[in-house]
Amino acid sequence: MELGARAAVLAGIGSWLPPRIVTNEELAGELDTSDAWIRTRTGIGSRHVSAPGTATSDLAVEAGSRALKSAGAAEADAVLVATTTPDRPCPATAPEVASRLGLGTVPAFDVAAVCSGFVYGLAVASGLIASGSARRVLLIGADTYSTILDPADRTTRAVFGDGAGAVVLRAGQASEVGALGPFDLGSDGAFADLITVPGGGSRQPVGGDRYFRMQGKKVFRRAVAQMAASSRAVLERTGWTVADVDRVVAHQANQRILDAVAAELGVPAGRVVSQIERVGNTSAASIPLALADAALGGGLRPGHRVLLTAFGGGLTWGSTVLRWPDVAPVAG
Ligand code: UT7
Repeated sequence: MELGARAAVLAGIGSWLPPRIVTNEELAGELDTSDAWIRTRTGIGSRHVSAPGTATSDLAVEAGSRALKSAGAAEADAVLVATTTPDRPCPATAPEVASRLGLGTVPAFDVAAVCSGFVYGLAVASGLIASGSARRVLLIGADTYSTILDPADRTTRAVFGDGAGAVVLRAGQASEVGALGPFDLGSDGAFADLITVPGGGSRQPVGGDRYFRMQGKKVFRRAVAQMAASSRAVLERTGWTVADVDRVVAHQANQRILDAVAAELGVPAGRVVSQIERVGNTSAASIPLALADAALGGGLRPGHRVLLTAFGGGLTWGSTVLRWPDVAPVAG
């Protein structure tokens, strides 16, 4: 195999949602909010929330084992976990996940790019494969935001849910169906405070605010503009036009953001994958969860030209493309 032609090819996909569903009505029983407000402003009807004591690695192991099953693989050369809610500040969550999955002593590390973490992880996995460092990579996007939300913050409680999604990427040829295309990645740390957990790091090691804080309105505008710009950039690099795109799978932050990105790009609404009504915003898990859900539901079919785009804290953003391969997702 020629080094230059080596590409990461999607070979399996798995997902996991904790069983407990929290409806808007349940939230409204506890906070000053309503089903009507949440649906109108976000498109969310319910979200999954982990049982107390559940850690991100627990969700990651569930999704990871399903992705391996979907790929028919028992081994991987590297394990990456994209997450904002690691089990602890140190060490990373991925080594424990690799061990619990029985993958031995393979390289394993976390990717910290908040809601763009899965797309950043795809880029890192592609690099490991293209350089010949790995032939098969397990990438898991997993988040347990219920552990970092302020119980009294009606806005973030309405938006975020828990979940995990995972893919297996194998070494293959760039011309194959399922091969990841070029990437567009970016960040703007001048706006780090728009999405933040201020405390618990080296800046405020003790006594700081340990809850997730988001300036929603400011983030909204940037999310739409940046996902549209990043999508255009990656399409241009790929040599596709917007009309070539069969499905857009964007980070599931808010239905109004998905609608606005589609309108900005000129993509018909029927080509935009959305699972947000049932799961809310699951951060690094949202893209693989939406891919698995759409592939299982028939909305995403083999051969479809798919555009992936994400935006999140950092600020960070990223996009890539692939033609959807004939894989059977394993969901849980
Ligand atoms: O995932 C990473 C990237 N994240 C995003 O892309 C999220 C982007 N932002 C958003 O999705 C939206 O900004 C939110 C859903 C977070 C908020 O929606 P919004 O339409 O921007 O509302 P807002 O924050 O401007 O608040 C409008 C009003 C406020 O009341 P006043 O000041 O107008 O009286 C809020 O206090 O709605 C109020 N409000 C609520 N009311 C009922 C905020 N949250 C709620 C709530 N229920 N849950």
